[in-house]
Amino acid sequence: MIIYSEPNTVSDLPIIDIGPSFSKNKTDRAEVAKNIGRACKETGFFYISNHGVDQNLIDETFAQANRFFDQPKGWKEKWKKKGGSNGYEPLETQRLDNESPRDIKESFNFTLGNIPGTSGYKSNIWPKNFPEFRGQLEAYKIAVWKAGLQVSRLISLSLGMSFKHFDSTFSQQKSPLRILRYPPQPKNTQYNQLGCGAHTDWGWITLLSQDMTGGLEVEKASGEWVRVEPVPGTFVVNLGDIMLRWTNAKYHSSLHRVMNNYSGINRHSIVLFFNHSHDTHVECLPSCLSAEEKPIFLPCTAGEHSAQRYKESR
Ligand code: OGA
Ligand code: NI
Repeated sequence: MIIYSEPNTVSDLPIIDIGPSFSKNKTDRAEVAKNIGRACKETGFFYISNHGVDQNLIDETFAQANRFFDQPKGWKEKWKKKGGSNGYEPLETQRLDNESPRDIKESFNFTLGNIPGTSGYKSNIWPKNFPEFRGQLEAYKIAVWKAGLQVSRLISLSLGMSFKHFDSTFSQQKSPLRILRYPPQPKNTQYNQLGCGAHTDWGWITLLSQDMTGGLEVEKASGEWVRVEPVPGTFVVNLGDIMLRWTNAKYHSSLHRVMNNYSGINRHSIVLFFNHSHDTHVECLPSCLSAEEKPIFLPCTAGEHSAQRYKESR
């Protein structure tokens, strides 16, 4: 359990303008990749701006998330996750910091491109007779996926690999889109029960959009916790644990959490976990290993890695 203490500083995470990287000009791309590489080494957390996702699409998706969570509890529970499916997860179900009480959040998850019978397959549970919700969330996922792919390609360049080196490893089916609500702080919560307990993400990268309420916090390499303030027009990008395996821990996956919500209103966030396919073989890249170094991690598949981390979060 990581005991909460309130940070007194705001993060100085860089805001990286990825707009120039969409040009065919290799120098522009290389410059953005260099900035991303630096942020990956220093904290593994950064903002991206000029990411190409339309602000109206983001706003409409928040509106649909709000509408979903505003429905009665009994209705939402009809769409609850079951037997390894996607779907609704009620308040105080998940525990992202192992030994802490359960998180004060509710969420809804889905994936795209699901092919029954393939490894890592999960079915979706969509609410019935709830028009626009599904179409809006799917449109959001498709649009943010493009931004995620661009960041992934820049990360690839920053690691000395080709722009599209990792493209064939990514899988929509293994990349959940999750909408979250953090209600105003309830009475009678337990000791160290947070919005979302301190954790690292598990996969490749995460792209997060948060409303203006704030509450996300990240641990810097120094061990100091800082607030990740909402910055309009940006996504927060952070690296997951798999990145440590590829880079021999040269790139960072930082602990982060969501503080208790004393704002008096609901806080919402939308998170895309951008991941490898289940069977992707993951091992240290030659470019991340000097002659004197040994790999810290044993090779594994992305599916083995995430199954282990999921088990630990129950
Ligand atoms: C997560 C996460 C933060 C947030 O879902 O992994 O870190 O602000 N969420 O919702
Ligand atoms: Ni997270």
